[in-house]
Amino acid sequence: MIHIPKAEYARRRKALMEQMEPNSIAILPAAAVAIRNRDVEHVYRQDSDFQYLSGFPEPEAVIVLIPGREYGEYVLFCRERNPERELWDGLRAGQDGAIRDFGADDAFPITDIDDILPGLIEGRDRVYSSMGNNPEFDRHVMEWINVIRSKAHLGAQPPKEFVALDHLLHDMRLYKSAAEVKVMREAAQISARAHVRAMQSSRAGLYEFSLEAELDYEFRKGGAKMPAYGSIVASGRNACILHYQENDAPLKDGDLVLIDAGCEIDCYASDITRTFPVSGKFSAEQKAIYELVLRSQEAAFAAIKPGNHWNQAHEATVQVITAGLVELGLLQGEVDELIAAEAYKAFYMHRAGHWLGMDVHDVGEYKVGGEWRVLEVGMALTVEPGIYVSPDNQNVAKKWRGIGVRIEDDVVVTKKGCEILTGGVPKSVPEIEALMAAARTEAA
Ligand code: GLY
Ligand code: MN
Ligand code: MN
Repeated sequence: MIHIPKAEYARRRKALMEQMEPNSIAILPAAAVAIRNRDVEHVYRQDSDFQYLSGFPEPEAVIVLIPGREYGEYVLFCRERNPERELWDGLRAGQDGAIRDFGADDAFPITDIDDILPGLIEGRDRVYSSMGNNPEFDRHVMEWINVIRSKAHLGAQPPKEFVALDHLLHDMRLYKSAAEVKVMREAAQISARAHVRAMQSSRAGLYEFSLEAELDYEFRKGGAKMPAYGSIVASGRNACILHYQENDAPLKDGDLVLIDAGCEIDCYASDITRTFPVSGKFSAEQKAIYELVLRSQEAAFAAIKPGNHWNQAHEATVQVITAGLVELGLLQGEVDELIAAEAYKAFYMHRAGHWLGMDVHDVGEYKVGGEWRVLEVGMALTVEPGIYVSPDNQNVAKKWRGIGVRIEDDVVVTKKGCEILTGGVPKSVPEIEALMAAARTEAA
């Protein structure tokens, strides 16, 4: 399995500590276990910031970074070993494992945090933490500070400033290293295989969930623990619901099916959308809309390179889609005026993409100082234009209604342009039709 090497976590901690103000401390909690119902838990997923800095996969843990601390800068609070609990729930690293396997300089039982952490904070001027995302943890931080304040008469010095960690950390996360791109490439390739399998399996009479099962099979077979987000398998008019989740309608001959799904590897997401005919052959209207979306995506790829700004890819898709909708007779008027009036939004109401990384809608600012962010090598993003003709749109000829198409790929900005990570799924009309026809011949 491809994963982020241990040395990279150490590099990240060091890079973060180098950016922290002198005499400061950073504190980050692990994700809590989420209960699904009664005593059943959701599959555990580590908090992305916590994972980014530690690779430590357990709940009930707290990272403390103290640049310049004589007895070690990286302190990890975590669960103690416990043979009884480990028999039921699985192995724990314990404090020895935290040091041996996860690079902590010092490790303490999480149950001792109230006794130990105030002493580590004391005398530091600034506390960096992720404020506002975890009210319970924010309250704990204040309790630890209050312990120090209560000892002020003994000479204890509480910190003077609280700083949001997000800005530093999320900017780091925006630039993907070679190791991160490798993991993202792996996630993308597994997801690509899943989409190919879904296309090959599609038949009228199956259900949307039948194709979801094919996706899940490839995800798990590739080593992914889970999808990066709830898979969307939307056939016919369901494709016009952007975040459709039911995935339980029957697949009908003559309809398209839109699949937006990607797996997660070592906490890195992939995010692919393909739209194809249930029975393997596009109708004239479906093909016209599909090829327009595809042309807009190609225009967006051409706009992604260092020096261009974040919004240029989106603007390229708006230009191509608006002009194409006029050509097809779905919009009437001058292209420039229609763009200014945002007339395309009746058909294309979302943006062309988002940052991609440990979170599917990844962290990182889209604007800096009020201006669109300029693209740089290592930034990863999706490119996902779409056209959705509402089944209720009375302004267009009936033949167009209920057609929904999105095409989504993942890219990383390179020196000259961008690398498409998800190129392993066919995308042109002839390629898709050929793949599906071959699968039918084999099955027959
Ligand atoms: N799958 C969510 C998105 O495409 O943004
Ligand atoms: Mn998507
Ligand atoms: Mn997306």
